[in-house]
Amino acid sequence: MIILCSNGLTGSRLREAAGRFAKPGGRAALVVTADPEYREKNYHVPRSRQELESLGLAVEVFDFDLQPPEALLSCDVVELMGGNPYYLLDAIRKHGGEEPLRQIGRKGLLIGWSAGALALGPSLGLVDQYSPELNTVGLTDLRGLGLTQVQVLPHYSRFHTRYEDFEARCQAYEQRQGCQVYRLDDGEGLLLDGQGQVVEELRSPLRVNVAGVDFRNPVIAASGTFGFGREYAELYPLSELGGVSCKGTTLHERPGNPPPRVTETPGGMLNAVGLQNPGVDHFIEKDLPWLSQQGTKIIANLAGSAVEDYCQTAEKFNGTAVDMVELNISCPNVKEGGVQFGVTAQGVEGVTKAVRKACEKPLMVKLSPNVTDISEMALAAEAAGADAVSLINTLTGMRIDINTRRPIIRNNTGGLSGPAVLPVALRMVWQTAQKVKIPIVGLGGISTWQDAVEMLLAGASAIQVGTAIFTDPYAPIKIRDGLLEYMEKNGVRSVSELTGGVRPW
Ligand SMILES: Cc1cc2nc3c(=O)[nH]c(=O)nc-3n(C[C@H](O)[C@H](O)[C@H](O)COP(=O)(O)O)c2cc1C
Repeated sequence: MIILCSNGLTGSRLREAAGRFAKPGGRAALVVTADPEYREKNYHVPRSRQELESLGLAVEVFDFDLQPPEALLSCDVVELMGGNPYYLLDAIRKHGGEEPLRQIGRKGLLIGWSAGALALGPSLGLVDQYSPELNTVGLTDLRGLGLTQVQVLPHYSRFHTRYEDFEARCQAYEQRQGCQVYRLDDGEGLLLDGQGQVVEELRSPLRVNVAGVDFRNPVIAASGTFGFGREYAELYPLSELGGVSCKGTTLHERPGNPPPRVTETPGGMLNAVGLQNPGVDHFIEKDLPWLSQQGTKIIANLAGSAVEDYCQTAEKFNGTAVDMVELNISCPNVKEGGVQFGVTAQGVEGVTKAVRKACEKPLMVKLSPNVTDISEMALAAEAAGADAVSLINTLTGMRIDINTRRPIIRNNTGGLSGPAVLPVALRMVWQTAQKVKIPIVGLGGISTWQDAVEMLLAGASAIQVGTAIFTDPYAPIKIRDGLLEYMEKNGVRSVSELTGGVRPW
């Protein structure tokens, strides 16, 4: 068997798959690239050794430049580590390592990660798009060992900021070669048989499918708190997130409400931004081309003030790179329309039905908490053809300046969000999960990974993080990492195992 992975046997699914084919008491060779730079500096060696030892294997370090390749045949497991792919491929070829590796792949377990995974595959052509400077050995024949024709791209999320046009170059390569590139995140891999055919994708337990859309992880930036992502892309690759729900977009540009539009509240904030946005055409022409290259799922948040506006705007998303449309019928801060659709079941059903007809993308309806029974609204959205619902939007609130006796927000009222609303959001998601069959994306007050776990247990398939991003832009990443750690510690193999897992009294 062969495992191609991103950064070694990190992640429980990879270790478990390797454990199926590596029997305790066996021998393993850890192949390091002998590139002089890596010989001394390869700090991955102790970590990789430990990963193999945890499977009960006796581990030796192997170097093609120093040892005969036939020595590998006495091993049950051979792991080709990361490093310089050109140097590694050259060394294997030069020393006749190809046949022993092929035999290990057939009778034992051959693991290749990063450079190792690239060398085993069809070609280094893809890496040559990004890092030709690594070709210090002047390799002209970029064909790989060809133990498999499967082309992987390791460290997918991590390398997005390292290389410009990362995704675009990968797509161009796929088109030129007529192949599918498996984009692997760290902790992910592929299990292949000895002939090099994929038998299992060993994906991160964080991956989740909502309404037909595959999210790399269940953490999505909430609409209105992340713009169109550009500012945050300076801090981390957006590919670290499952998705981005963009600022509410309307048919025409909107200036939003006059200031003051936001104020702090205990455990949260009040806002009445009023759907300020540049309009759908601007979004499609100026923001979407950039966003579609960031390696994350794009949710277009659709707002409007009349059913026709919603439909016309939704139609414009058809055929674009948008992955999902989130229908915002729940914004409490615009005078005309918006929320009026979201507060009666009839209103929800009417607008959802109309937009459903116009919209060819998966459709998620974002529900207002400013109702008596939110689950009734969810049922109406489901009946009208929604593929998912997201809840909650903000709760209508108010603050007053006691000196001027004026409301602090110029709009008089605003939407309350942040940690203060979490218990309300949890209750609403829990109630809704008992009524509808379509998936729920849960949000409202999530600022820690523990909050996210609660939201999933309440019945959400994925979560969004909003206000927390204002106090800590890295909150979504921390939530993702904490969630993964929690899942690994508790033997949770997939996010969907948590969904609805609360055990009510
Ligand atoms: C400043 C601000 C702007 C918002 N703009 C939108 C919007 O354009 N469309 C939308 O559906 N929700 C919008 N929301 C609501 C959030 O997406 C989210 O539903 C709400 O804030 C609750 O989540 P949180 O407590 O994690 O922020 C906005 C929220 C804030 C704080």
